[in-house]
Amino acid sequence: MKLSVIYDSRTGNTKKCAEWIAEGMMRVEGVEAKTFSTKDVDAEFVKDSAGVVIGSPSYYALMTADMRTWLLEGAPKLDLGGKLGGAFATVQFTHGGGDLVIQQILTNLITIGMLCYSGGGACGDPCIHLGPVGVNHNVEKAYLEDFQDNFLIFGERFAKKAKELFG
Ligand SMILES: Cc1cc2nc3c(=O)[nH]c(=O)nc-3n(C[C@H](O)[C@H](O)[C@H](O)COP(=O)(O)O)c2cc1C
Repeated sequence: MKLSVIYDSRTGNTKKCAEWIAEGMMRVEGVEAKTFSTKDVDAEFVKDSAGVVIGSPSYYALMTADMRTWLLEGAPKLDLGGKLGGAFATVQFTHGGGDLVIQQILTNLITIGMLCYSGGGACGDPCIHLGPVGVNHNVEKAYLEDFQDNFLIFGERFAKKAKELFG
């Protein structure tokens, strides 16, 4: 079963988190997960994927303009309706809008007919309610690597659910 993780990233944080999600997905037997920048999507692989997770940095507590444009213009060409969907974000500040960015992405995914899943509280600790958020700010003493496990676990949970539904 194929799964895709698609991200926008200018300085590499969101790309790294996408790679952790894919790594977590591939803990589940039979899963082949790949990551793609919105600028370099393998359309055939994504169309063949049972689930797609989308991630963006927070820019003024919104998804980036590039991600929004891609969701409006690129995503509709990829047959995403009916697939499992998920979202994640990276921020500089703990209160920098990570959950808001995830909500904005999920709203787009629901609008194009995806079935959205995060694991929520149903999977126990760590409770990843909307999707994982990676924080990276040395003044707050938060480093992206501190959040690696959440991304790995989210990827694994997402893949298990995709396999249960579509495997
Ligand atoms: C124009 C701009 C606006 C930003 N706005 C926010 C923000 O509102 N909240 C926040 O926590 N971080 C903000 N950031 C920081 C990025 O969200 C954060 O560094 C992110 O991890 C960058 O992801 P990337 O390395 O994948 O590009 C902003 C960065 C830029 C360049």
